[in-house]
Amino acid sequence: MTFELPTLPYSVNALAEAGMSAETLEFHHGKHHQAYVTALNGFVEKNDALKGKSLEEIIRFVTGKADLAPVFNNAGQHWNHILFWQSLSPKGGRMPAALEKKIAEDFGGTAEFKEAFKTAATTQFGSGWAWLVLGDDGRLKVTKSANADNPFAAGQGEALLGLDVWEHSYYIDFRSRRPDYVTNFLDKLANYEFAEAQLAKA
Ligand SMILES: [Fe+2]
Repeated sequence: MTFELPTLPYSVNALAEAGMSAETLEFHHGKHHQAYVTALNGFVEKNDALKGKSLEEIIRFVTGKADLAPVFNNAGQHWNHILFWQSLSPKGGRMPAALEKKIAEDFGGTAEFKEAFKTAATTQFGSGWAWLVLGDDGRLKVTKSANADNPFAAGQGEALLGLDVWEHSYYIDFRSRRPDYVTNFLDKLANYEFAEAQLAKA
């Protein structure tokens, strides 16, 4: 299987007013994400054990295998970014009712959820991700992961939203101010309607 860079679900200028510039998206999607896809296809090309497998099958196959860590890094980052682009919206920040109710049940309220998410995203040392996950116990939780790791590989449940906290995601628009980037995501960019749809499917 040859993997492809997915098209962004909005124009490259669409998020600028909400805090993510076209320049960030052009680099992040067009260069960084593309580089993960290109590298992954190169590994698949050279390794018969990976050929014909879906992205999820490759991640499962290479997770925990030290000699295949470079495959994991690129496959994981492809998976993570596919979710990330869907986690953003030009009309982000609006919490639909069913998700708001579930968040109130599991976190105590929207403010408490945002605080937990911000803590996870800002305390992830170095590169990584913060996630809203539906655990196998049916409860929402916030998790974080390093580098290319994600809730799917870690068996934590269904990822509903993912936020990239690699510097390449915020340096152009926020310089080193990761906390401001995270707050801006939660209030203006987060596609809670996508998260609610993921929740309904799970
Ligand atoms: Fe990224």
